[in-house]
Amino acid sequence: METVFVIGRRPLEIKAAFQRKLRLIQIDLFVSEAIDHIHQQLSGIKLDYIIFSAATEMPLKWFCEITSEEYDNAFLLNLKIPFFLTKALLSNLNEGARLLFLTSRLSSSPEIGSVIYCMTKSAVEIFSAGLNKELGGKVLSCSVIPGVVDTEMQQRL
Ligand SMILES: NC(=O)c1ccc[n+]([C@@H]2O[C@H](COP(=O)([O-])OP(=O)(O)OC[C@H]3O[C@@H](n4cnc5c(N)ncnc54)[C@H](OP(=O)(O)O)[C@@H]3O)[C@@H](O)[C@H]2O)c1
Repeated sequence: METVFVIGRRPLEIKAAFQRKLRLIQIDLFVSEAIDHIHQQLSGIKLDYIIFSAATEMPLKWFCEITSEEYDNAFLLNLKIPFFLTKALLSNLNEGARLLFLTSRLSSSPEIGSVIYCMTKSAVEIFSAGLNKELGGKVLSCSVIPGVVDTEMQQRL
């Protein structure tokens, strides 16, 4: 049976309903050793798919009110982590593996008060498209706009 590795901070809640073997790598992606830890946990494991979902919609503010720390946090979680996690896990990927990056319609149509989120999603889309070219067809990458989904992020928005 295929194994699905889930990276997140909270314990898994969906185990019973899920048909595949699940393994949690419980870590806060904000901690500096996060990528090394994930790399270590997946040592020797071959992957067919990676879905990059974790992101923050914060800060929800007019751009003049955004601090340097808030800017850095959003770019860290939404862009730098996917970038360097892809790099770290490249040797784990089987030929023909797929990378999927979750993006948003806001990547091309910003709304007032969410400019940082929009910028990070825009950059993620370019990263995904660039990866496709640089990986020469051995690994395929794409980004997808999931549409409005009733999640915790959507409730906060
Ligand atoms: N919901 C929508 O309508 C919508 C629309 C367009 C695009 N999207 C995109 O879809 C993706 C998922 O969104 P969502 O609505 O499911 O968001 P969400 O409700 O906020 O869930 C975010 C997920 O990311 C994980 N996560 C967040 N910060 C983390 C951290 N520091 N370390 C480790 N894991 C972290 C969380 O797991 P833990 O809490 O366990 O850490 C959680 O599973 C995002 O990229 C979002 O931009 C969503």
